Amino acid sequence: MKFLILALCVVAASADPHWFMMPADEVALVQNTWNQVKTNEVDILYAIFKAYPDIQARFPMFAGKDLDSIKGTSGFALHASRIVSFFSQYISLLGSEGTQPAIKTMLNQMGQNHKNRGVPKQQFNEFETAVMSYMKAHVSFGPNVEKAWGDAFDKMYAVIFSNLDGQPMI
Ligand code: HEM
Repeated sequence: MKFLILALCVVAASADPHWFMMPADEVALVQNTWNQVKTNEVDILYAIFKAYPDIQARFPMFAGKDLDSIKGTSGFALHASRIVSFFSQYISLLGSEGTQPAIKTMLNQMGQNHKNRGVPKQQFNEFETAVMSYMKAHVSFGPNVEKAWGDAFDKMYAVIFSNLDGQPMI
């Protein structure tokens, strides 16, 4: 019986190897800093495309177009709002035990959509670098804030990358 319980624990843990609850102080740092920039939707997407034109090139409606010309369009505003709202939702759900299943569901779905679009991990990593640079330039960003943001991305990418590898997180 003891062996069975142990075996079940090992299976449960291995289904979820990188999943973790972020500490409350880190959640507060991420939420407070994000709240300071989250209405700059167009600016954030612009910064991502500017730093990584290969990400822009993946969007059929933006590929090959001059970034400064599309920045003011409604299509650009719409997509910026989609990405930033998704991110805001993820960040608002962090930090409580009860919201972990909702986080997994939304990230599994997003990971699956982006796997279907063929987005590689390397571009997600570029996205993280661009968002981190944006945060550094717009809020007070000490080592503790950087660590908290790193953890928030790790948690998010654990689920997304699992989907890119063909395995939704259970
Ligand atoms: C890093 C590289 C990424 C690429 C190349 C990429 C690419 C795309 C593309 C091509 C679309 C479809 C746009 C359309 O024609 O409607 C899309 C949709 C979307 N993306 Fe991304 N994406 C990336 C990262 C992200 C990240 C990190 C997030 C969230 C934080 C995100 C959130 C969304 C959302 C919410 C949608 C709309 C819903 C959907 O169709 O899935 N994307 N993305």
